[in-house]
Formats: sequence, C-alpha cells, structure tokens
Amino acid sequence: METKIEIGVWRIRRYEERKNMNADFRIDGKVIETKRLILRSFKQTDLEDFYEYASVEGVGEMAGWKHHENIAESQSIMNSFISEDKVFAICLKKNNKVIGTVGIEKYGLEDALTEFKDYYGRELGYVLSKDYWGKGIMPEAVKTVIDYLFNVKNLDFLTCGYYDFNIQSKRVQEKCGFKPYRKLVIETKIGTQEQSILNLLINPKKKIEFIFSHPETLIWKEIIKYESRKLDDDTVKSLIELSKQWQEEDCSYGMIVNTKDNLRKPLYVAVEKDKIIGYIFGHYYKLENKTSYIEVGSNCFMIDEIYVIPSYRSKGVGKELFKLMENEIKESCDYITLSTSTKDYKKILHFYVDELDMNFHSAFLIKDL
Ligand SMILES: CC(C)(COP(=O)(O)OP(=O)(O)OC[C@H]1O[C@@H](n2cnc3c(N)ncnc32)[C@H](O)[C@@H]1OP(=O)(O)O)[C@@H](O)C(=O)NCCC(=O)NCCS
Repeated sequence: METKIEIGVWRIRRYEERKNMNADFRIDGKVIETKRLILRSFKQTDLEDFYEYASVEGVGEMAGWKHHENIAESQSIMNSFISEDKVFAICLKKNNKVIGTVGIEKYGLEDALTEFKDYYGRELGYVLSKDYWGKGIMPEAVKTVIDYLFNVKNLDFLTCGYYDFNIQSKRVQEKCGFKPYRKLVIETKIGTQEQSILNLLINPKKKIEFIFSHPETLIWKEIIKYESRKLDDDTVKSLIELSKQWQEEDCSYGMIVNTKDNLRKPLYVAVEKDKIIGYIFGHYYKLENKTSYIEVGSNCFMIDEIYVIPSYRSKGVGKELFKLMENEIKESCDYITLSTSTKDYKKILHFYVDELDMNFHSAFLIKDL
C-alpha cells in the first residue's frame, strides 16, 4: 500500500515500511490509561467493535480510506494492526468497547525533507467512531500518546496531517499543540488528490532547531523558543517590565509589579528574536497542614506567575510554557498548585482545567453590597 505525496515539484512515494530515520516503535504490551480511555494493542476479540465503526460511511473517508464493505475487510486490516503492533485501540473504560485508533505511523518524506535526517520521530494518524465525535475523546487519547512518545520513548518530533476540508481533525491537532508545517498535495489510498496540511510538534524538552528544506511548501512559523532561564540582570529587567505591562493591562486583581526579590526559580521563558514574550515561574514546597485534597508531607510545586503578552495570546504560548515547566518538575513533585485572581475567570478556568488538565479545587467569591 502506498500514498504518493507531492511536495511542490516533488513526487514521493510513501511506503508502509521504510528503513531510515523513523524511530523504531512497537506497542509491546504497553497500556495507557486516561480519564475515560484505555489505549492498548488490538486483540482478535475486537473485530466486531472495529467493523461497527469502520463500516460507517464518512469516517474513514475523512482520513483517506473507504469505509469497510464487509467484516472480512476489517479482519484483514485488524490482522495487520496486530502483526505490526503500532496502532493503539482506543477502548472506553466504562464498557471496554473499542471506539477508534491512534496509529504511530511512519512518516514517509524523509528522503525529501532533509530537516529530519538527524532526528527520530513518527507520524500520528487517528480515527474515532462517529457515535463519539465532539466529546473531546480524540484529544484526550492523542495528548496521552504524545506524552508517552516524548517523555518515555524520547522521540524528537511528531508529525500529523489532515485534508483541508477536515476541520474537526484540524481542531484535534491544534488542541494537542501541533503547529502548521507544510502545505502538500496528497494522493489518497482511494485515488483522490487532496490539499493537505502537515503539522509538526517538537518535543519541548529538546532544544531542536530544524534546518528546513523545500521553502516552497513550508509554512512553519515557529520562531518562538521556550527555555529555562537563570535570573541574570537582563532577564530580571525584562520580567519586571512585563509585570508592569501586566499591571497596566488591569486583567488581574491585586497585581503588584515584581521586584528582583519576588522573582523565583525555576523560571521558563518564551522568546522571540531575543525578546521575552511570556514567562512562568514558581516554587517547590512541602505541604505542612492537612487539607481535604492533599496529604501532609506531599511535595508540591506552586506556580507563582504565568504571563504572555497580549499580542501572543491564543497561540498556545502559555500552554507550551506550562508543559515545559510540568515536564521539568514532575519527577520531584506530586502536585502542581496555583491560585488565580484573573478577572476573566471563565477563560482562565478553561485554560487550566480544559487545556492543562488541572483539577478545580475552590474559589473565593465576593458580592458588593
Ligand atoms: C477527527 C476526529 C478524530 C475528532 O475526534 P473528536 O474526539 O470528535 O474531537 P473533539 O471532540 O475535540 O472535536 C473536534 C472538533 O470536531 C468538530 N465536532 C464536534 N462535534 C462534532 C460532530 N458531532 N460532528 C462533526 N464534527 C464535530 C468540532 O469542530 C470540534 O472542534 P471544537 O471542539 O473546537 O468545537 C473524528 O471527527 C474522526 O474520527 N473523524 C474521522 C476520521 C478522521 O478524520 N481522522 C483524522 C484524519 S487526519
């Protein structure tokens, strides 16, 4: 099975198995659990569930394959899932039903796209039963797979693509942090040619700067870098300036401009062309008094401040900063905590709870009389 991909004047064949820079990957018995889902290898007993959603018209077609005409077709594809062992079955925890897949596929452009030649990555592909669309299930599955591939398997990058018309898949990829990378014409398995976007996600723990080839199809605009910082004089000056800006914006109650003494480590910054456009810092502490939600003696990390300048908001900068910090501190902590006095509390709760998987604990309300 192959797919032809056109990169400008290039036409490359994508074979199922290629030999070079794709990272080796097998599920190898790994089971990943999320709030609502279990991700694991396929088993022969999954056939009926698989056929049930793969035979529905308008599901596979969004991903470039035709819905299955009969159960024998599903059987043969499921056999290849089992033997290749790179496609996770997504099971609903509550009833063990298989409702979709996340495939850790091989990206097929390494001969042409030389930027990946010294790195290891894979391409993600996914499908969900139509009955479960619109409940955030795929972002939940894909985010946890990304976490596994970056933090356990130590991959450098992931790609993931969608056909231009597939807005729902575009949203899944945005929610998972992918950024537009190339505009390509892809010849699908059903023989159509589709304008497509290939997205890229670089492991935030790694300081990779790709040297991109083929500018004619490149749409990557990631010039923002994320890094940990020492509190040197220039950084302190910039952070104090940013907190002045924050105070002037008047979007939080009781915002006081920082002094050098307030600033703490660990500190992470988002930088564009040497200018800090966002930051996050906090401190470690051990819980001394009992609370209803954390045991005494737990190791915690409190986020003191997170700020992104207004013109860079809604681009995932805050999320990247949070994730970078979370990755760095999670080995030594049981909990991340923070309290917020942001005036637009609905928006900020969406950010922390929906985007960053924090749990809401309490709120202090007040009424003017
Ligand atoms: C793409 C797909 C996996 C999305 O999974 P999901 O769990 O429904 O994802 P979400 O719940 O986050 O919804 C994503 C977007 O789908 C759209 N959506 C929501 N409910 C929907 C519904 N009932 N019908 C169609 N689209 C819907 C919305 O645009 C939503 O974005 P929003 O949350 O910003 O409003 C799923 O639609 C699917 O399996 N499609 C067919 C296969 C496919 O396209 N695979 C990807 C190939 S690149």
